[in-house]
Amino acid sequence: MDNLLSMEHLTTSEIYELVQRASAFKHGTQNANSYEDTFVANLFFENSTRTKSSFLVAEQKLGLKLIDFETNTSSVQKGESLYDTCKTLEQVGADVLVIRHTQTNYYEELQTLNIPVINAGDGSGQHPTQSLLDIMTIYEEYETFEGLNILICGDIKNSRVAKSNYQSLTALGANVMFSSPENWKDDTLDAPYVDIDEVLPTIDIVMLLRVQHERHGESETSQFEVQQYHEQFGLTQTRYEQLKDQAIIMHPAPVNRGVEIEDTLVEAPKSRIFKQMENGMYMRMAVIDNILQTRGETTK
Ligand code: CP
Repeated sequence: MDNLLSMEHLTTSEIYELVQRASAFKHGTQNANSYEDTFVANLFFENSTRTKSSFLVAEQKLGLKLIDFETNTSSVQKGESLYDTCKTLEQVGADVLVIRHTQTNYYEELQTLNIPVINAGDGSGQHPTQSLLDIMTIYEEYETFEGLNILICGDIKNSRVAKSNYQSLTALGANVMFSSPENWKDDTLDAPYVDIDEVLPTIDIVMLLRVQHERHGESETSQFEVQQYHEQFGLTQTRYEQLKDQAIIMHPAPVNRGVEIEDTLVEAPKSRIFKQMENGMYMRMAVIDNILQTRGETTK
């Protein structure tokens, strides 16, 4: 891979290769490369706990040298553009950039950079490393995607996780369906919208999405009724009991406990929410390693 911007750019064989590489790192069956004099900068223009910290651990496990960059102490505060910021980091020696930005498709303006970009989330566009870690988590359970019934539930319209996963899981052979309030449907995606209570007993994976208030207008946020949403679209104990024995629950997190999912179910036996976070670090190692190998970076 030359970079990682969108799940649409990955073939299914590239996805399987990344899952295998991440899994080999996780189980210690493949030693991680240690890169020599290879520099990375993490540019997070939007808040993050999981993605940022797992990239930082992955980078250090691969021996990368970190360029200290924080948006709030950088010249971004003086109005420097995204392109000029990235070009500057390239010129001072960055070999790879990890970027999260509020702007959907921000990476289109970075096409003339000479170093790879890894998209850590662009607005409501894509979140490819989240999708890859979700795919790894599903593969650990089922060792296939063919014919799996996957219900993605919640704020579809604003969710980069829903878009990335819809594209990749459909390509891998899963039956992806959505459940969402009317105002959060996304008609650009071709999956059927279903009634959560009708399909739940047939579902293999239920993936809950965070309600993304930061992408809603003021009036939408003020009209949002937590209890009503939880009753209509949340995973309650009653719904949990409708799930198949082997079914699993996923959520990209951060979780709004008591909104998308009942508090006590976050660590229930069927939940893989914290497993997703663990897998995220190994998947990010695999993505960086793949890109640096393609680029011919020197290892020790
Ligand atoms: N899932 C996810 O992207 O979490 P963060 O926003 O904490 O990185």
